[in-house]
Amino acid sequence: MLNTSDFSSHLSRVQASEQAINSSGKLHAAADYLPLAQAHLAPELWAYLAQGDSGRNQQALERFCIMPRPLRQLQSGHTSLTLFGQRFEHPFLLAPIAYQRLFHNDGEIGTALAAGAQGAGLVVSSLASQALEDIALAMRQSDGRHSGGTSPCFQLYWQGNRERTLTLLRRAEEAGYAAVMFTVDAPVKVVSLQLPDGIRAVNLSAYGEKSGERETEGEPRLRSSSVFQTWMAKAPNWEDVAWLRRQTELPLLIKGLLHPNDAEQAVSLGCDGIVVSNHGERVLRGAPTSLASLPAIVKTVNGRVPILFDSGIRCGRDAFVALAFGATAVMVGRPYVAGLVCGGALGVAHVIRLLRDELELTMALAGCAELRDINHECINDMN
Ligand code: FNR
Repeated sequence: MLNTSDFSSHLSRVQASEQAINSSGKLHAAADYLPLAQAHLAPELWAYLAQGDSGRNQQALERFCIMPRPLRQLQSGHTSLTLFGQRFEHPFLLAPIAYQRLFHNDGEIGTALAAGAQGAGLVVSSLASQALEDIALAMRQSDGRHSGGTSPCFQLYWQGNRERTLTLLRRAEEAGYAAVMFTVDAPVKVVSLQLPDGIRAVNLSAYGEKSGERETEGEPRLRSSSVFQTWMAKAPNWEDVAWLRRQTELPLLIKGLLHPNDAEQAVSLGCDGIVVSNHGERVLRGAPTSLASLPAIVKTVNGRVPILFDSGIRCGRDAFVALAFGATAVMVGRPYVAGLVCGGALGVAHVIRLLRDELELTMALAGCAELRDINHECINDMN
């Protein structure tokens, strides 16, 4: 477990983040971190982080222009929002990323300290490499805004059957997680990374530790042609979503939907949020970009539940485009991991701060005082 002196030293490092990292003079934008992380990381770890990313998600976001709207009164502007009962300073959440101690010894605890200190939302992977309880505590304690602090959301991967899945869910509930994000788009996935000794999914039971599964992100490594009888036999289905809905009173979000009919089904089963995501292009080759899928889902959901967006957000301007298409908030994955690689908790804190600054700047130049002012009229796709 995390002890108090570890925690205080981590926290003071996070608080020093901006001076420490800015003094390097090279990191002026959130997007500056990824190339630096590549230079720092062993090639096999960079390959694991970058896997799947062809740039299509980013290109889709970059295609849109943002219309400048000068001369508006914006001095009361802000980026804050309330999501699932918690107040956040800005609409950036840190996406669930497996095995963060691969990237820096601070691991998920470093990420949680940074999220708390910078007022960001945090989603903790089922495949975290540190204890769920310690991660949640770190986030709450580093959030200096109010007593009690903000709690993270728990990302749930199906554990092969209902009993094991429920055990994991109960553990997250007991650790005080504020919501559950059920990832459904990766029941079969090929990942070639061999985890080094000492790094594993410490919160999973023996099922998650079985040979062949340790080195994968969500599910066992694909070895034979028996996809349907092996992995799909253990994959969740819509009945399991309905069952899961009945097991918890926490807000339940479904991550990894790109088809409006699936979003409709999730809402009709009582889910509290949809995450439009193509998993950073890591799962189904040739899946549509997240942005291409967003408008139809926004139309179908029609404001009944919040819609989170991820895949391809690299700067505040990208977030603005996703919000203009109707997302309520955005998640970032690889950009904050790059911060973790370069500076541990400090690096993650700096990436979040830069993203927020970039979004504020874009909003100011586009004449938007609040997130609700960002809409489809702010953008167009003519260059
Ligand atoms: C992921 N992602 C992911 N998603 C999830 O639900 N559970 C997980 O454990 C992981 N693990 C993971 C590891 C790594 C190395 C990457 C890059 C991604 C997907 C992640 O949450 C998110 O959907 C994408 O990373 C978003 O795309 P960007 O921001 O990385 O482009």
